[in-house]
Amino acid sequence: MSSPKKSFYLTTPIYYVNDAPHIGHAYTTVAGDVLTRWHRQKGESVWFLTGTDEHGQKVLNTANSNNVKPQDWCDRLVESAWKPTWQHLNIANDDFIRTTEPRHMERVQRFLSGLKDQGHIYSGKYEGPYCIGCEEFKLPGDLDEGKCKIHGRPVEMVSEENWFFRLSAFVPQLLQHYKDHPEACEPTSARNEVIAFLEGGVQDLSISRSTFDWGIPVPWDTKQVIYVWFDALLNYATAVGLGDAPGTEGGEKFAQTWPADVQLVGKDILRFHAVIWPAMLMAAGLPVPGKVFAHGWLLVGGEKMSKSKLTGIAPSDITDHFGVDAFRYYFLRAIPFGTDGSFSWEDMSARYTSELANDFGNLASRLIAMIEKYCDGVIPAVAHDEALSAALIATVATADSAISALDFQGGINSIMEFCKRVNGYVTEQAPWVLAKDPANKIALDKVLYNTAESIRALAVLLHPIMPATTQILWQSIGANETMGDISKQKVSDIAKWGQLPAGSKVIKGAVLFPRLEEKVL
Ligand code: MSP
Repeated sequence: MSSPKKSFYLTTPIYYVNDAPHIGHAYTTVAGDVLTRWHRQKGESVWFLTGTDEHGQKVLNTANSNNVKPQDWCDRLVESAWKPTWQHLNIANDDFIRTTEPRHMERVQRFLSGLKDQGHIYSGKYEGPYCIGCEEFKLPGDLDEGKCKIHGRPVEMVSEENWFFRLSAFVPQLLQHYKDHPEACEPTSARNEVIAFLEGGVQDLSISRSTFDWGIPVPWDTKQVIYVWFDALLNYATAVGLGDAPGTEGGEKFAQTWPADVQLVGKDILRFHAVIWPAMLMAAGLPVPGKVFAHGWLLVGGEKMSKSKLTGIAPSDITDHFGVDAFRYYFLRAIPFGTDGSFSWEDMSARYTSELANDFGNLASRLIAMIEKYCDGVIPAVAHDEALSAALIATVATADSAISALDFQGGINSIMEFCKRVNGYVTEQAPWVLAKDPANKIALDKVLYNTAESIRALAVLLHPIMPATTQILWQSIGANETMGDISKQKVSDIAKWGQLPAGSKVIKGAVLFPRLEEKVL
C-alpha cells in the first residue's frame, strides 16, 4: 500500500486565553486561512491547525483575579470567544488544539522524558528576570530600565531550582540549518535577526517552574510544571500525533503531516519559533518545519496593538461595519506581510469603497443587470477576447507565485489590477451603446460573455480571500449549477478561457459590498 501524499501543513500560533481575540490575532489566523484555502484550490491535501495556549502564569493570574479556576476560565474563553470568533471570520481550520487536552499533555510528557533519556535535560538553578506578559526569561538587552520592551511593564525576578534544556548545544546545527535553507525563516529581516541572535551566544533554557502549578507536571519531578513555552511549542506536533507508534491513527497522521510546511507567527515570538522550537526537534531527531514566517505588527498609535495596553480592537468592531469579507481582504491587501502597519478606519473605508464596492462589486452588478436586460438573463455564446485572456493568464501566474510565497499583498494587487482591466474593457466596449442597435447583437453578446467569463475567473481567484461574497457571486452568474462548487475550482484551471457555459442563468443576488452607511468614525 503506498502511503498517502504528505499534506501541506500550516499552523498559527496558539493564542493565550487570558483575554478574547483582537484583530492582531485575527490577522495571523486569516492569513493562515487564505493560504490554506489557496493550497486547497491548488488541489493539495491540506491540514490547518490553530488553537489556544492555556497554561502558565499569565492565564493563571487572570483566572485568579476573576475568581475562577484556571480550567473553567479557559473553557469559558475558548467556547465563548475564541472558537466563535474564528467561526465568524469563516476560518476553515481542520483542527483546534487546546494545551489542556489530554492528547497534548500526554505527548508533551512523553517527549520530555525522551529528551531526558537522551541526556538533553539537566537540573540547575535559574536566576534572572521574567516577563509574565511574554512568559519569557529575559536577557539584559530585552529590558529598558528594568521593564520588558514589549509590554512596558516591570519584570519579576525569578530564582528557582529548575530543569534545563541544553539549547546552547544546538547553535551550530541551527546556524547551519539557516545557511543551508534560507527559506526556513522569512522574511530576510527575520532570518538576519535570528542569525545575529544565534551568533551572539545562546544560553541553556530553563524548562520548568516550581512556584505555581498551572501547567503540565514534569513526569519525573511532579513538584515542577513544564515551562509554558516548552509545552506550547509542542502543540504543532502533538496535534498530529507526535511520538505515536507507526500504524496507529496518530502515527499515520504524523507521517502524513510532519514536518509542518509553514508556521505563521508574529515577529514578537520569532525567537521561540526559530531558535528554541527547531532545537527541541533536533534534540529529538525529528525534522524541522519548512518555514517559519514572522509577519509584522498591527500598530495603534505607533505601538503594537494589544489588550494589555487597552488598544485591542475586537474583530466584530470592524466586521459590524464592513462585513467579514472586507475584513479578511483589507489587512492582507493594505499591509505587506512581514511589515508593521497601522490600522485606520479612514483607509479601510477608502479601500472598501474604491476597490471592493466600486471596482469589484459594481462590475458584477452591472454585468448581471446587462445580461438580464439584453440577454434575457442567460449567459450568451462563448466568445474569446485575446487581450483579456492573455491578461488573465499573467494574473493567475503572478497571483499564484505571490500568494504561495506569502506575498498576499502582491497577489491581491495583481487580481485587483485584472479587475480594473475588465472594468476598462466594459467602459471601452460600451455595451449599452451597442445595445441600441439590434445589428450589433453578436458584438454585444461577445462583450457580455467576455465580461462574465472574467468575473468567473475573479470569483475563483478571490474565493480564498473572500469566501462568502465570491460564493454569492458564483451563484449569481449561474456557475454553481453548471460548474459545481466554487471551492472545487482549481487554480491551475482558472486561466482556461471559455469555461462559463453559455446558457447559464444569472440570478440577481444581494449587493456584494453595500454602500457604507454614513457613520461618524
Ligand atoms: N501563546 C503564545 C504563542 C504560543 S505558539 C506556540 C502567544 N500568544 S498571543 O496570544 O500573545 O498571540 C501572539 C500572536 O498573535 C502573535 O505572534 C501574532 O501572531 C498575533 N498578534 C498579537 N498581537 C498582534 C498585533 N498587534 N499585530 C499582529 N499580530 C499580533 O504569544
